[in-house]
Amino acid sequence: MSTAEFVVVANRLPVDRIFSADGEEQWRTSPGGLVAALEPVMQSVDGAWVGWAGQPDLEIEPFVFDGIRLMPIALSEQDVEEYYEGFANDTIWPLYHDVIAPPQYHREWWDAYVRVNRRFAEAAADTVERGGTVWVHDYQLQLVPQMLRELRGDVTIGYFHHIPFPAHGLYAQLPWRDQVLRGVLGADVIGFQRAQDATYFLTAVRRRLGFAVKGSSVAVVDDDGSERHVTARAFPISIDTAPYLELAARPDVRQRAAEIRASLGNPKKILLGVDRLDYTKGIRHRIKAFGELLDQGHLSVQDVCFVQVASPSRERVDAYMHLRDEIEVAVARINGTHDTMDHTAIRYLHQGYPREEMVALYLAADVMLVTALRDGMNLVAKEYVATRADNRGVLVLSEFTGAADELRQAVRVNPHDIEGVKEAIMTAVQMPEAEQSRRMRSLRKRVLENDVTAWSSSFLGALERARSEHVRPE
Ligand code: G6P
Repeated sequence: MSTAEFVVVANRLPVDRIFSADGEEQWRTSPGGLVAALEPVMQSVDGAWVGWAGQPDLEIEPFVFDGIRLMPIALSEQDVEEYYEGFANDTIWPLYHDVIAPPQYHREWWDAYVRVNRRFAEAAADTVERGGTVWVHDYQLQLVPQMLRELRGDVTIGYFHHIPFPAHGLYAQLPWRDQVLRGVLGADVIGFQRAQDATYFLTAVRRRLGFAVKGSSVAVVDDDGSERHVTARAFPISIDTAPYLELAARPDVRQRAAEIRASLGNPKKILLGVDRLDYTKGIRHRIKAFGELLDQGHLSVQDVCFVQVASPSRERVDAYMHLRDEIEVAVARINGTHDTMDHTAIRYLHQGYPREEMVALYLAADVMLVTALRDGMNLVAKEYVATRADNRGVLVLSEFTGAADELRQAVRVNPHDIEGVKEAIMTAVQMPEAEQSRRMRSLRKRVLENDVTAWSSSFLGALERARSEHVRPE
């Protein structure tokens, strides 16, 4: 295939492999917002996307899907275990989420991370045209910017970090802390979700590597002694709001919301949690708070039902298996104690659902509970807000999410404080309609104005400025 002017590099391709009823292989766009955000850019400049097809030992030739050139990276079973489940999701993920689970440090996982990052960098170098732009995404690929710069000094490189960056005291644990910083600093522009993440990163850069930092600009000294300026600052991500607005207005989706209510026994209030089943999401904390409110008689199953959608995630990683066991025991105890023949306390669903069904659930939910212990942004909070064109519903939002910086009219909670979560739930359940509406209007204004297109334009604008400012080798 010919080279592309604009290349996205992410751990996953923007498509999922599915099989039709007659066993034929098909591809379908993944539900994530990143694809929606980048699609117009990709189409206008004839872009390419380098990523993994999501299953081990899958060798696929490059192909075109919806006008985007897809360059699949094959990962062996060992790569998946050591690079993806190991270093990315059992070392970096817990460390960067404030060690909610203990990070595992294994030298062979690091070796696999270097090896696989190099493969992504080489594929990007083979794909991008002379003087083109490459946008690298997320913690799985922190070494790619520098590896790519070494291969292709003519290219402008962006890196966006979708998850939190930890405070220096935690980051300093990482045995490969300097190599990772140098890897990321290969980019011209580095984006974070929150200003705090950028500050933590810049502190680590100053303290570990001794580079001068002025505002959001770092004077990086490369191995050959040359100096270049790298920008590192916040670009808070958002969602593609259009499909949520459209679905929320559709009569069949509204009808489905009414059916969901009825299927739960038409309770006065429906509480909702929607997460990947991940220990960072604070699912256990919200279940505990809800259980205590039932035990203490502040809420009853006749009046209130809590629906928790927990989509399966990283199921072969120990910490995720343990979490699932803990949650399922907790749900069963509460339901066993409080359910009646007609009402259930917690409707727990360990499944993923299509967007249509999620929008119906958002419309049915009076209270949305986002109690993450740490979260880069949390797009579920923004999806709920975008959906509620009726200006009803209450968002309870953890202060440890990126979304909390923007969504100031939510009911804020510290999820570690179970009494505080209980109070927030009671406030939400009892909130008068006029106050719900006042808060929701202001939340919606914010989300609708700052959608994912505003995010990608602002990042790509910064990258364009970096391109024009930098002198690049011929
Ligand atoms: C988070 C990460 C993404 C990741 C997603 C799903 O949102 O920031 O990079 O793709 O979780 O996790 P998975 O391991 O299934 O890709």
